[in-house]
Amino acid sequence: MVYYAHIAAGTSVVRRFWCDTAGVLGQTQTKGAMAPSSRFAGFYDQPLGDRVEQVAQWANLSVEEAATLRRAIGLDLAQADEMIENVVGLYALPLGIAVNFLINGRDVLVPMAIEEPSVVAGASFAAKLVRAGGGFQATAAPSEMIGQIQVLNVADPHSARFDLLAAREELLALADETDALLLRLGGGARDLEVRILGDTPVGSMLIVHLIFDCRDAMGANAVNTACESLGPRIEEITGGRTRLRILSNLADRRLARARCTVPADALAFDGLAGHEVVERIVEASAFAAADPYRAATHNKGIMNGVDAVVLATGNDWRAVEAGAHAYAGRGCGYRSLTTWAQDSRGDLAGTLEMPIAVGVVGGTTQVHPMARLALKILGVRTARELAQVIAAVGLAQNLAALRALATEGIQRGHMQLHARQVAMAAGAQGQEIRQVAQALIARGVIRQGQAAVILEDLRSE
Ligand code: MEV
Repeated sequence: MVYYAHIAAGTSVVRRFWCDTAGVLGQTQTKGAMAPSSRFAGFYDQPLGDRVEQVAQWANLSVEEAATLRRAIGLDLAQADEMIENVVGLYALPLGIAVNFLINGRDVLVPMAIEEPSVVAGASFAAKLVRAGGGFQATAAPSEMIGQIQVLNVADPHSARFDLLAAREELLALADETDALLLRLGGGARDLEVRILGDTPVGSMLIVHLIFDCRDAMGANAVNTACESLGPRIEEITGGRTRLRILSNLADRRLARARCTVPADALAFDGLAGHEVVERIVEASAFAAADPYRAATHNKGIMNGVDAVVLATGNDWRAVEAGAHAYAGRGCGYRSLTTWAQDSRGDLAGTLEMPIAVGVVGGTTQVHPMARLALKILGVRTARELAQVIAAVGLAQNLAALRALATEGIQRGHMQLHARQVAMAAGAQGQEIRQVAQALIARGVIRQGQAAVILEDLRSE
């Protein structure tokens, strides 16, 4: 057994760990000390095993949890078979850790499940820049989802609307009966709205919105059940017939916001002064604000970060995607989800606002072993805390993309990782992957045929 102390970078914190080769067995932290820093210099260059060890220590993972990470034991087939239909196998993705995040004064390591190179590195790099400006400030609204009930064949929609609003208390109480546990946890029905959609191909219809607080769950099941339960009573009140009863993924009551400031000096790069990089990023942001063709790509970059955390934590990334793009398209045309401007000191100020409907209980979050681990590493206890982290990661990802696009372009940074994928596709294994990748970059030709030739030479040496 090894006993050693870890002094977190940039703080006076001393954490003591008891370890053996199987992993961390226990730890203590100096009384009154601050949490350890997520500023992991050189994390990228460490061997994979050391990275696992460092994260396990940082997040105080149990021996079993550390082993799960190290041996990449995620879901097993039996569990998968209970989750969806017609299961024939598992599909794995890399799980990376974005480092350097400081969110609302708390150091955070961010697990990201994603296949695309440069995303984890980009988020970590941007988080380092933002750290120099004091980190991210993030907020998230209460977990209120909107459930929709479609009512057709209503003789007088305007009068029926008033009748439904008059029955608000009764309908909310009825919806609350569907989930006693959620009610005990402080969630449940919050409000009722009724809209009239006139002139549709099937005539006018009433759309009832049930506003439902899902607390720490994403809430799709709770909302759908509550909406279905209201159907018969709504038909009685309106004299119409209900058809669809389902949540809306435009979760615009569940908005998360993140903001940050990057000191101009921290952005100086490759012969460009910091203020020049600030100006270039602001110009890039203006492009996305004015043009939907650019906004789509700009937002895709944000979702690179958002989806990777949503997926790592076992949440429904399609729901978050749908909400993000619907929110970006509200009002007058499709727009970017972030803004970047130069503040009065000449520094770069960024904001992000988008719906983030995620949970830390229910669904896959507690079933998938990797999702449970991801939540533990993040150290979030509530859905709102998780949404705050995701918003900060989205903003970081956007900053990384804009900084690269507005300066050197993204291809240079991509080449190293792209070359490794090409090397793997040509059959390189273990150490060979980096060797072949480096040779490809040196030759300036990143092609599989070229990689195969290099590999053959390497093996014949
Ligand atoms: C690539 O996955 C994402 C970017 O295209 C985002 C952007 O253009 O802002 C680099």
